[in-house]
Amino acid sequence: MLEVKNLHCRFGTDEILNGISFTIANGEIATIIGGSGAGKTTIIRTLCGLEKISQGKISIGEHKSKRGDYGLVQQGCCLFEHMTILKNVSYALGAVKKFPPEKSKKIALEMLAKFGLENKANSYPNSLSGGQKQRVAIARTLVMNPKILLFDEPTSALDPEMTSDLITTIGDIAAQGMAILIVSHDLAMARRVSHRILFLEHGKIIEDRPTKDFFSNPQTERAKSFLKNSACI
Ligand SMILES: Nc1ncnc2c1ncn2[C@@H]1O[C@H](COP(=O)(O)OP(=O)(O)O)[C@@H](O)[C@H]1O
Ligand SMILES: [Mg+2]
Repeated sequence: MLEVKNLHCRFGTDEILNGISFTIANGEIATIIGGSGAGKTTIIRTLCGLEKISQGKISIGEHKSKRGDYGLVQQGCCLFEHMTILKNVSYALGAVKKFPPEKSKKIALEMLAKFGLENKANSYPNSLSGGQKQRVAIARTLVMNPKILLFDEPTSALDPEMTSDLITTIGDIAAQGMAILIVSHDLAMARRVSHRILFLEHGKIIEDRPTKDFFSNPQTERAKSFLKNSACI
């Protein structure tokens, strides 16, 4: 379980995260929804230790969280274009975990097989569809065995069919017990994939509710107008 308590983050004198608290249970999918500039990416970056926090506590189970606890699937996937799919997935196992090449290759091939991509092992990213690239990006993250899986705007480069595939994939991973945090402004995706919605505004979570309740009966004026102005409602 991920537990975030009273998280603050500043850039200069700007308080970007202003006392964020939430928990995500194992097997749960939570989506932080918010407009551009609300602080979504900053939350992800502080969890991963890429931004310093000025106050707050982040724990996983009984322990203080550390960088290696998180697997981040970044916006736009960012595969290494000059590496084969197998190398994309196995690379960090050697570079970060210092596993020998044969072991890294075996783990990567097993993970690719789980995603139905074993026949793409020797292909390069430019020969894959957008949905396949996304699955490789997820496979590459999961081989590192994270405790928490993070997605930053996962649907930004996907068409509706690929989005449906992604929703299925994320649901399958959560069903195996992973805690998953997505940050996005894509309400339609959030509604289909999440157990819970956390609505972020100016670095504060102003609603934290089961998905159905959030969409059928938002409590704050800001969430109401956000829903009203989006095409999916
Ligand atoms: N490295 C940085 N230095 C200064 N300001 C930043 C930095 N990163 C983000 N910000 C500011 O923090 C706010 C939140 O940004 P971000 O977390 O990227 O929002 P979102 O992902 O919700 O669009 C924005 O006003 C942005 O300009
Ligand atoms: Mg962002």
